[in-house]
Amino acid sequence: MDNKKAVLGQYFTKKEVASNLVSLLKQYAHYSNDIKVLEPSFGKGSFIEVLKENGLNNVKGCEIDPELTTQPSDFFELPLAQKFDLIIGNPPFTKYNVKDSYYYPARYSAGEIKSTHYIIGELRKKAKMQVENAFILKSMQHLSNETSSIAFILPISFFIKNKNKEVKKALLRRFHTIVVYQNDRVWFDEPIPCCFAIFTNSPEFHNKIVILFEDGKKVKEIIDISEVYSEIIPRSFLYKKNVKLSGESLSKFLKPKPLKYHKSYSENNISGSNILERTKIPIDAVSEDYKLAVVRVGNGSVGKAGLVNIKKDVLNDMFYVFDFESPYDGDRNLKEVLCKFLNENREYLLNITFRVGSKSIKKSDVLDFRVTLHSTGKQVYAGL
Ligand SMILES: C[S@@+](CC[C@H](N)C(=O)[O-])C[C@H]1O[C@@H](n2cnc3c(N)ncnc32)[C@H](O)[C@@H]1O
Repeated sequence: MDNKKAVLGQYFTKKEVASNLVSLLKQYAHYSNDIKVLEPSFGKGSFIEVLKENGLNNVKGCEIDPELTTQPSDFFELPLAQKFDLIIGNPPFTKYNVKDSYYYPARYSAGEIKSTHYIIGELRKKAKMQVENAFILKSMQHLSNETSSIAFILPISFFIKNKNKEVKKALLRRFHTIVVYQNDRVWFDEPIPCCFAIFTNSPEFHNKIVILFEDGKKVKEIIDISEVYSEIIPRSFLYKKNVKLSGESLSKFLKPKPLKYHKSYSENNISGSNILERTKIPIDAVSEDYKLAVVRVGNGSVGKAGLVNIKKDVLNDMFYVFDFESPYDGDRNLKEVLCKFLNENREYLLNITFRVGSKSIKKSDVLDFRVTLHSTGKQVYAGL
């Protein structure tokens, strides 16, 4: 297999990360050392090693890749009669553009354990689904009883608003506590945006989601479990909540629907790398020709803003271009002030949006941005 790493999702958890996650789990799910544990896709075995170091010796593992184990086994073929008190690990994640990294129910139709034994509801109608979701759903059928837990590293996108609704619904039928943990470290040999999610039934956190983020300091927030369908990515959730921008939202100044603009990937004069050279409207130009361009995607440039000539400039496809509401379209000073303000506070946009693959922002992130305008005589300037 040429692209084995992508197909099988082979990103191995660093041992110190697994150790940190197991310590965290122990704070929320209290187990004796003789419980039955499953690591359903153990890779190079970092979780199993750490579990054993923590005194948990009754650990079973599956790993499909014969290059990683002498006894390869497919988790989707593990008999459902095998039950566990804790299922923990880092399942493979589907890469949206790698066809073979998805889970296909049809692949298991001839075997003894059929997908219909664990794939539920609307998802049964689908020809394929994300493999991490299939791991969650099957794991739920392997749990011993109501004190059992699942603790998985998951792509951070799992907790994006309205995503994976069916799987979240199924989880809520079984568990009344969710812990979502994220920190600012790299957990694998590549920086994949992910989190550690514990699905359990903690008497202390009945119907609660505990959101945790660490970046030197530890931040914790406890919210109602019904919030599971909203965006509960720890980093962005806590940042949005704690950094309150005040003043008027940019939706007062900008039209809600971004403009169509001259776009070329290869022959453009404006891209994320030079947009910051375009923050002023040339003195002899018509203010109304200049619109606000904000980089919407791209790790290094997201949130950078400039004023582009909508008639002449050609941009690559990384931008939202916003038109100004009519009272402000002729106000070159205000346009330049808003553009400068966005650039000075770009950190805000960077922090509220952490997505899989690349960082991207929604148009509402720009429109909801708040600015306080002050004026001295004719001059307008902005502050937070
Ligand atoms: C993201 S890696 C994580 C490995 C390990 N859990 C860790 O934390 O380092 C996912 C592992 O799942 C394995 N895998 C993929 N599909 C599998 C399946 N159906 N059954 C068992 N293992 C599988 C891959 O070979 C890979 O080693």
